[in-house]
Amino acid sequence: MAKISLLAYINLGVCLVTRFSRIGFILAAAGSAIGLGNIWKFPYMTGQNGGGAFVIVFLLSILVIGVSVFLAETAMGRASEQNPVSTFETLAPKAGGIWKHAGFMMVSGVMILSFYAVVIGWLIHYIFLSFAGLPVSVGEAQGVFGELVSQSIYTQLFFHLLVIGYCGHILIKGVKKGIERINLILMPLLFLIFAGLLFYAMSMDSFMRSVAFMFMPDWGKITPEVVMMSVGQSFFTLSLGVGTIMTYAASLPKKGNFVSSALYVAFLDTLLAIIAGLVIFTFLFEFGSDPSGGPGLVFISLPVVFAQMGLVGQVVSLLFFIALLFAGITSAISMAEPLLSYLIERHGWKRSKAVWVVMSGIYVMGVLVVFGGSEAYGESMKIAGKSLFDWLDFGSSTLLMPIAGIVICLFVGFALDKNYVHGMFGGYMSPLFFKVWLFCVRFVAPTLIAVILIEGLRG
Ligand code: PHE
Repeated sequence: MAKISLLAYINLGVCLVTRFSRIGFILAAAGSAIGLGNIWKFPYMTGQNGGGAFVIVFLLSILVIGVSVFLAETAMGRASEQNPVSTFETLAPKAGGIWKHAGFMMVSGVMILSFYAVVIGWLIHYIFLSFAGLPVSVGEAQGVFGELVSQSIYTQLFFHLLVIGYCGHILIKGVKKGIERINLILMPLLFLIFAGLLFYAMSMDSFMRSVAFMFMPDWGKITPEVVMMSVGQSFFTLSLGVGTIMTYAASLPKKGNFVSSALYVAFLDTLLAIIAGLVIFTFLFEFGSDPSGGPGLVFISLPVVFAQMGLVGQVVSLLFFIALLFAGITSAISMAEPLLSYLIERHGWKRSKAVWVVMSGIYVMGVLVVFGGSEAYGESMKIAGKSLFDWLDFGSSTLLMPIAGIVICLFVGFALDKNYVHGMFGGYMSPLFFKVWLFCVRFVAPTLIAVILIEGLRG
């Protein structure tokens, strides 16, 4: 008896050190999901693709594909409690087989991080600009952004170093003291800032126009292209197909309804994208700016609007870019964790060694990304007409993430025994929910993801 309780005690101690609490998991997974994808990509894609039409299709993709794959990844991680490579290997029916290679999907996490961290660095520049003075015309704003990206190599490298160094510092502390703790702090702050921005936007005349823009679809604008982009975005925004969710789920508490936790994460992620869209479009409409500014929306159109708001605008700008920075950091750390857990668990590396080796590699890639985007070196560094930034984005978001998504669906939907899969959910899904989910994972999600993969490759 004494022996059992001692074991239980030790076990509890280990859990406390290495496992998330329930709220810790929800916030960490939400922290991973909520990133530049929600606050930068989602609004500009919505603005470019006819507002409501894009939003409706996006919401459907989140429900049907996003949530299905998210639950599959969560269940896999929770069942194996290991890194992605070991997860496929141990869960696969025939001792790994070809499935064991599937876990290497985690390389796309570091590919994304190589340019994502550079973009987070740009945010730091905009935080300084909020103090120093924002550009007052679109022409000036284009100049400021263009100069940063194409000429200020060393500024970018310095900010990039700060971002990578800070992420490394968090990651070295591990799941509980590093990842969980930072998310417990930054995620509520992020929501608080966005709640404040939303209230401010609601006080403006253009708020209702922004609501109408986002929620009244012009059905004629739903094109195959819009469907493709929404499916891709639902995947990216939920951090799927990189092994991140699987790895975080490996540290779920042993007990507890992880299905509802996963649904909370998908809900929070979608909520924040919608709030960001409402806020940004209200600001843009209020000052007569165009919502279809594309990728420059946040870095060019928005700063001009902030400048027009006067002193309040400086505060709003500061809060906005700080929130974006928080969102970016919590996503960035989650991109590296799958590879780290693999190196630690499979190769016996110490966490500190794994973190610094991986983060140094990512830093070097980021240096190449910065040089590749510069006016001086960009042209000569292009490969087949594309910059390294574009190649990394293409290789991860267009190629590897969808492939990994299909693999996850086929693995859970067909390779694993149906009863085993049912058991993985441990009674946290009603029979009807399970049936609908399995149907989506087996047929709907892989088909739609295959379509975006093929379309993406055709360019
Ligand atoms: N979901 C993050 C975002 O929206 C990006 C991300 C992708 C994070 C893959 C982790 C893994 O910005």
